[in-house]
Amino acid sequence: MVKTKLLKTDKHDIKIAAEGIKQGKTVVFPTETVYGLGANGLNKEAVQKIYLAKGRPADNPLILHIGNVSWVEKLAVNIPKEFYLLVDNFWPGPLTVVLQAKKNVIPEITLGGLDTVALRMPGHPLALELINEGDLPIAAPSANTSGRPSPTNHSHVIEDLYGKVDYIFLGGDTPIGIESTVLDLSGGKGKILRPGSITYEELMEVVEVEEFVEGQKGKILSPGVKYRHYQPQAPMKVILGEDNHVIEEINRRIPHLLKIYQKIGVLCFDEDIDKILKTDRLHIVPVGSKNNLLSVANNLYKTLRTFDTLKVSYILSRGINHPQGLGIAISNRLNKACGNNIDII
Ligand code: TXA
Ligand code: MG
Repeated sequence: MVKTKLLKTDKHDIKIAAEGIKQGKTVVFPTETVYGLGANGLNKEAVQKIYLAKGRPADNPLILHIGNVSWVEKLAVNIPKEFYLLVDNFWPGPLTVVLQAKKNVIPEITLGGLDTVALRMPGHPLALELINEGDLPIAAPSANTSGRPSPTNHSHVIEDLYGKVDYIFLGGDTPIGIESTVLDLSGGKGKILRPGSITYEELMEVVEVEEFVEGQKGKILSPGVKYRHYQPQAPMKVILGEDNHVIEEINRRIPHLLKIYQKIGVLCFDEDIDKILKTDRLHIVPVGSKNNLLSVANNLYKTLRTFDTLKVSYILSRGINHPQGLGIAISNRLNKACGNNIDII
C-alpha cells in the first residue's frame, strides 16, 4: 500500500506534485482528454511504479508528456517537417505523435522495448504547469486499472488507484473525455494508430495521413491496441444497424435476457430513451445526444462505469453509426468495451 495524498489544483499543490515527480513519485493529474498516471519518464524506477499501479503489461509503451516543443529534439531523431506543421496546429492538445527515439536517453521500460517514442504536449493548464514546473517529461498512461474504462473524473481515479499512487489531483471532469489521437510519424507517411479526439479530417487539413483501420491484422504497430480495454464488469453486447431497427432489436431481446440475468443495463442515445421498453430490473443509461458526438465522447467512460455501480449483470448497447469525425474514435472505444461482441443487424 502507498499512502495516497489528494491534491487541490492550486499553485501550492502543483509545486508539491512537481517536487514529487523529481523525486520519482507517481502523480495522477487531469489532462484535457482523460486523467494520466504520471511519473518521471526518464527514471526507470519511477516508470516501473506506473506499470505496477495500473497492472499494465510491460510491452505497452507510455506517452511522454512534454512542456515545450523544444524538448522534442532531446528525445527524438529524424523529425520530419510534417511534425512541425502538425504541432503548430494541434499542440498543446490531444494529439500524440510517434517519432524515432533518440538512443540511450529514454529508458527501455518507458518505450516498452520499441525504438520509437510517443510524445504529446497536453492542453490542460494544470497538466502543462505541472510538467513545466517539474521540468521533466512525464510518462503517463490513462490513470485507470489496466482494462477498465479510462477516468474522466477524479472519483474514477480514486476507485481504481487510491492506495497505489503517491498523489491524485482533485481536478474534476476532463473536458474531452476520450484519449488523444496517436499518429505514427516514425517512417514515411503519417498513420493513425489510435483514433482520438483530433479527427482524420482535421489532420488531413494539415498533412496527408493514413486513416485508422479498425481490427487491422498483421503487424501491430501500437502495442496497446491488442489488449483488453475500457471494459465494464458485466459482459456487453453492441447492436449495430439502422437506427430504428437497433432499438426494435434491443426491445425484442430484453425479455429473453431478463430470464437469464438478474439486472440488465441498456446504453443508448438521449433520443432513444422513450422508445425503449420500461420494465423491472432494467436500467437505461443515456450516453448523450446522437446529434452531439462531443457529448457522447464526454460521457462514454462515465456511462460504462455507471453500469458497474448499478451492478448490472449484462449490458446491451446500441452501436454508433458514424463512420467519420469523432464517430470513429467513439465506435472504436465502444467496440473495445464490448470485446468486439457486436451483432450487426
Ligand atoms: O489522451 C491520452 O493520450 C492519455 C492522456 C493521459 O494523455 N494517455 C493515454 O495513454 O491514453 P495510454 O497509455 O492509455 O495510451 C497510449 C497509447 C497506447 O495504445 C500505446 O500502445 C500507444 O499509445 N503508444 C505509446 N507509445 C507508442 C509507440 N512508441 N509506438 C506506437 N504506439 C505507442
Ligand atoms: Mg489507456
